[in-house]
Amino acid sequence: MEYFGKSHRAQWKTRTGFILAAIGSAIGLGNIWRFSYLCYENGGGAFLIPYFIALFSVGIPLMILEFGLGHREKGSSPLSFYKVSPKWEWLGWWAVIFVMFGIVMYYAVVISWCFNYLIYSFNLSWGDDPNKFFFSKFLGLTRGPGEIGDIRAPVLFGLLIVWILNWVIVYFGVEKGIERANKILMPLLFILTLILVIWSLNLPGAKKGVIKYLTPDFKILKNPKVWIQAFSQIFFSLSLGFGIMIAYASYLPHKTDITGSAFITAIGNCIYSFIAGFAVWGTLGYMATVQNLPIDKVVSQSIGLAFVAYPKAISLIPTFSKLFGVLFFTILLFAGLSSSISILEAFTSAVIDKFNYDRKTVVSTLCVIGFLGGIIFTTGGGLFWLDIVDHFLTSYGLVIVGILECLLIGWYFKAKRMREHVNSVSEFKIGKWWDFSVKIFTPCVLGIIFISSLYQELSKPYGGYPITSLILIGRDWLFVTLIGAIIISSYSWRSEKK
Ligand code: PHE
Repeated sequence: MEYFGKSHRAQWKTRTGFILAAIGSAIGLGNIWRFSYLCYENGGGAFLIPYFIALFSVGIPLMILEFGLGHREKGSSPLSFYKVSPKWEWLGWWAVIFVMFGIVMYYAVVISWCFNYLIYSFNLSWGDDPNKFFFSKFLGLTRGPGEIGDIRAPVLFGLLIVWILNWVIVYFGVEKGIERANKILMPLLFILTLILVIWSLNLPGAKKGVIKYLTPDFKILKNPKVWIQAFSQIFFSLSLGFGIMIAYASYLPHKTDITGSAFITAIGNCIYSFIAGFAVWGTLGYMATVQNLPIDKVVSQSIGLAFVAYPKAISLIPTFSKLFGVLFFTILLFAGLSSSISILEAFTSAVIDKFNYDRKTVVSTLCVIGFLGGIIFTTGGGLFWLDIVDHFLTSYGLVIVGILECLLIGWYFKAKRMREHVNSVSEFKIGKWWDFSVKIFTPCVLGIIFISSLYQELSKPYGGYPITSLILIGRDWLFVTLIGAIIISSYSWRSEKK
């Protein structure tokens, strides 16, 4: 069993390269629009309390677990789970399969929107009615998921570019591709974000937005929904349960500070979200001021924030408005790309571990499949499909993987054993609190999230969509990928064939 995945395993050139890649995966589209909106909706500054509690109680412990697992077993997620117990190989596959053939397929489409909007910024193409422009002209939205409509050419074109970029980066491997790309993308992302924040905060009325962003409403902490949202956001934002952090850590040298890297990655990700929030809210404050509207009237959530509210604000900026737009969408593009390459790598390393295929062939094939599979999300009904698939994969898929990996490592493998491994190489030693988090606390929290999602699911159809669409598009997406995972697990490992 020894040589599984060990032969010529690639390695990060520097620890900084590894941390930047892990942060690159964590910082994604969700950090910019989702976090800002969540804060607003859930008690402003008070939301930071459950958010940071979630970070320390679940986010960091799980990040240490995934880093520790990948590092100890020197394998992608299926190989690492296989080494823990051959019966659990399917879990490793399931995670990377539904992320690669699900989350990344639509995520790349959203990056394509950002790419298109980056170009639109040059002449503010969305005009006076960004809402109509986005939903009717750009997306050509149909009436529901059952009506697919036609493929939107600009979205398709953007998608092609995104997959070409993914391909170029991952094709060259861990050090020459991913590490190098992140060493360029991440510092640029930080600098551009800082410029955007400073610029936004200097717009007239920005303060009004920031006050709205941060004024704490502590009453809201009594509402369990707020806590669930904070824990879910941490989990998705840190790319946990995706199989990514396991694969990235498998390329670490033996002597490396696992706990330190986990702390830096997780805290860095959250600080980024917090800082980016100032740009979003400063701009919304400005928009409310020039339009003489209360701030609640200019706010919108998720997709609406980036592609409707923000373009509107960009048009209102008196000087260099186009540049402001280019800056914002470039930031989204960089944040998105560094996340999408991470899952491409997680899947690639899994296939290489299992079948020993050539990296270049694997990456090229995956990019073609990723592009073709993403076409469904570029149609007029694509937004509905995207919403449904996202809901099922993130609310159930990721959460189930998270629960099972905690139970498997915590109880079967034994948390103490993993902790001893992690401490034997790390500078910062973790104590018994970690065992408690992995064995009991995290599975319970994720279990509550799971049950509450299921409860809501059964009480009313998600998003008001027809039940058949939800079953066929959402639930079955999970089932089909699960069957795929079980089938792949039944094949033998490359070394067993010898
Ligand atoms: N952490 C990413 C985000 O916040 C999520 C993600 C990771 C999505 C990898 C796709 C691939 O956006």
